[in-house]
Amino acid sequence: MHPTQFPRHLWPLGIHFFRKELFWGSHSLQELGSSLETPLYIYDAATIDHAISAYRHGMTAWPGPSLITYAAKAWLSLPLARILARRGLGLDVVSQGEMTIGLRGGFAPEMLHLHGNNKSPALLQQAVAAGVGAIVVDNLHELGLLEAMTPAKPISLWLRLNPDLLAPTHAYRQTGHHGSKFGMTRQEALTAAQRIAASSHLQLTGLHVHIGSQIFDLQPMFAAIDRLIHLAVEIEEEGWGKIEALSPGGGLGVPYHPDDPHPPLLTMVQQLCAYAAASWQKQHGGPHPTLILEPGRSLIARSGVALYTVGAIRHLPDGQRIIAVDGGMSDNLRPALYGARYTAALARAPLAANVGPARIVGPLCESGDLLISEIELPEAHPGDILAVPVSGAYHLSMASNYNGMLRPAVYLHQHDEMLQLQRRETIDDLMRRDIL
Ligand code: LLP
Repeated sequence: MHPTQFPRHLWPLGIHFFRKELFWGSHSLQELGSSLETPLYIYDAATIDHAISAYRHGMTAWPGPSLITYAAKAWLSLPLARILARRGLGLDVVSQGEMTIGLRGGFAPEMLHLHGNNKSPALLQQAVAAGVGAIVVDNLHELGLLEAMTPAKPISLWLRLNPDLLAPTHAYRQTGHHGSKFGMTRQEALTAAQRIAASSHLQLTGLHVHIGSQIFDLQPMFAAIDRLIHLAVEIEEEGWGKIEALSPGGGLGVPYHPDDPHPPLLTMVQQLCAYAAASWQKQHGGPHPTLILEPGRSLIARSGVALYTVGAIRHLPDGQRIIAVDGGMSDNLRPALYGARYTAALARAPLAANVGPARIVGPLCESGDLLISEIELPEAHPGDILAVPVSGAYHLSMASNYNGMLRPAVYLHQHDEMLQLQRRETIDDLMRRDIL
């Protein structure tokens, strides 16, 4: 491959070629992968900051205050929480686990928003006790649980609207259509607003919509924003609340494969915010509430790279080449679950001539355990390190111990140092909960 054909936009900013090898700053990926245990995940601090800057700049198209709230589900750990909290971001959480990691990682409780379509009474209690900034009410059952509480001070609530729109993405990632388990119809949301207005300890402060994830076509997001603002106007006209926070969720797409569209993140954020501003002006016209964007993937995906070691290589009589590596659906479920397409590079020879297509499979006992169904690659040998870019979001957070696999260690490349963020799981970790 000629260097100009290398899809740089899929790789972290610090990746470059040196001595024809793939390097991350001054670190050879082949050497890193060989000296540390693989599978191994590495994040790039500069690439995370780059994405945060794109959001910050893009969000100036909204004339009012704005906030980036990272969706913890994309991947969270104490050190990542610390990094993001220090940069002034908020955090979207959906469980006691995410909430606790966020708080212990240094987020102020009021920077947390609690989402989820089936929050238990215990989770709602924990969120109220912690003092989270807002609980995003997903349905009227949940509102009933909140009404029954007796908190020391009023609870700030947002309502999640189901806008009845189909997001152009994989069916498993659509969340805003009729029949989705997420969010309330307009009528339910109006009922909720009226009930909140009648409650002495509940306060309606915001509205939220999230139609899905990995979206490039912004039109349905624009339509969702229109419906959200329409709801804000209706609620305010009835006197049921003052909308101080408006959140069109997350969902912006990222390229994973050289064939994927790759509009600049800054442009997408700008278009979204400019559209929201125009819609607000047209439908409401009053002072702007805080606009909250909730990116997961677009903030973190590109910063992460997964490293695997090549093991068995099979050449079938019909010319097929199957390259097995030491990780798979236990650390990256996305190809198996969504048919997600990835690319990869051989760390010691990313630009060497391709010798034909290969299938990259893992070591797990499932034929669906594959990372890449077809990729052109140079000659590979056992012990080679295979690097898979765009591995930062929804890999580690969806990882499992299937087949007794150990979840990988995680490093951060920052100021050209490789800092360990998370150790690899141990065999003892696998048995920690067992009772003999
Ligand atoms: N806000 C809410 C309420 C969400 O449910 C999500 C994602 C986000 C924000 C962040 O969306 P993002 O910016 O990351 O697209 N496992 C799937 C993605 C599931 C997304 C779930 N909700 C995947 O790997 O493609």
